[in-house]
Amino acid sequence: MEKSVRIADMFKNEDEYLGKKVVVQGWVRTKRDSKAGISFIELNDGSCLKNFQIVAETEGREYSEILKKMTTGSAMLAEGTVSASPGQGQSIEMQAERIHLYGWADPSVYPLQKKRHSFEYLRQIAHLRPRTNSIGAAARVRNRLSYAIHKFFQELGFYYIHTPIITASDCEGAGEIFRVTTLDPTLTSSEENGIPYEKDFFSKPTFLTVSGQLQAEIYALALGKVYTFGPTFRAENSNTSRHLAEFWMVEPEMAFYDLDDDLELAQAFIKNLVKVVLEDCRDEVEFFTRFIEPELMSRLQVSAESTFEVITYTEAIDILIKSGERFTFPVEWGQDLQAEHERYLAELVFKRPLAIINFPRSLKPFYMRVNDDEKTVAAMDILVPGTGEIIGGSQREERLDVLLDQMRAKGISADDYRWYVELREFGSAPHSGFGLGLERLMQFVTGIPNIREVIPFPRTPGHAEF
Ligand code: 4AD
Ligand code: MG
Repeated sequence: MEKSVRIADMFKNEDEYLGKKVVVQGWVRTKRDSKAGISFIELNDGSCLKNFQIVAETEGREYSEILKKMTTGSAMLAEGTVSASPGQGQSIEMQAERIHLYGWADPSVYPLQKKRHSFEYLRQIAHLRPRTNSIGAAARVRNRLSYAIHKFFQELGFYYIHTPIITASDCEGAGEIFRVTTLDPTLTSSEENGIPYEKDFFSKPTFLTVSGQLQAEIYALALGKVYTFGPTFRAENSNTSRHLAEFWMVEPEMAFYDLDDDLELAQAFIKNLVKVVLEDCRDEVEFFTRFIEPELMSRLQVSAESTFEVITYTEAIDILIKSGERFTFPVEWGQDLQAEHERYLAELVFKRPLAIINFPRSLKPFYMRVNDDEKTVAAMDILVPGTGEIIGGSQREERLDVLLDQMRAKGISADDYRWYVELREFGSAPHSGFGLGLERLMQFVTGIPNIREVIPFPRTPGHAEF
């Protein structure tokens, strides 16, 4: 195949390309024919938001017949010389000398025409939607963030640990787990003595992981500072704009870190990622600010610079009660904070990211460290304007007796988690960690309202297409 230049590279180094003969390959966004016998093609190759303008002669050239067939959505190649563009809207363009059509798109049926399509509509054509400005931009931001996440931790001396996807444990204890089995479904339902796990692949109940944390703890208590970054599954039957059944989570876990250290790291992490997006995905942020969320740019700038507010759960409840606001879910000490409460605090009260710490013990999983008041645990949730919770984390319970008490109280069998308990018997050490939902972060940095747009192929209740 012929080697082409990336359109993004040409726009980045225009001077270098001016006067040069190049080949570009991509998909036609629009074609317009002028009365003066010139055709203009807006070509997009997915490398950036901007289209590259190809100027071609409508008649009398070898390519003129092909040009007539060229429609929105067609895949093509153009070769020609790059020149400064006299027209408005672009700095450089190409005078085409050769044009090749790879694959035509029939305009009477091609689902993406030159107009704004709703996100709901685009979800039904997830195989074509990355060719739109917004989904393409989201994909590039997601890629940049993924790279920055690894870079951030690698530069701080963290080790990347691959934790299992199939597991026998339910880290969060919420029971929202997808079963993994090779048993014949008709066999399991006809069996009288319950499910015959001894015949199952792993000889015991197994699930898709809801978190890599418990396994990350094992490696933190050996390598010091580690992180996992991988797919995570939750059979939460909540059809909201911020829940997926399959999402990606980044989970650092650090030995000899307490909750303060954990918070400090989480803050540095978020700020670093926001700065990367502001610097390296400038066009995308400007685009999202213009078309999706007018406050996006200023929100990101504030988040990159300001120190996060830190309040306790008890203080958060006080603020919400005193606000006099009428919430759908009641506000009361001991009740979990709902999305509406989180957003009220982040958007209206503090107007920047904030951490809520020390939640009631009853609301949080067994592994969180019990505070001296014995009523709360050393937990932290980080909330951001527009999205609410993007990080959940804690200091872990490293004291054997307290951990066993917590497990008993939550009905978790110490036998099933023997290995987890043993980490407290042999060389136990204080340690902490957190989990960042990549898609929640994506919602925050793009302003895209529904989480189904920030992952290429969303899995939600009733939906596993593509
Ligand atoms: O608060 P969560 O449940 O915490 C944990 O899983 C811990 N084990 C993490 C740790 O300490 N290592 O989930 C962490 C984050 C949430 O703050 C949210 O950003 C994201 O994961 N998340 C989801 N994102 C999309 N869809 C869902 N259903 C999500 N559930 C959690
Ligand atoms: Mg949480």
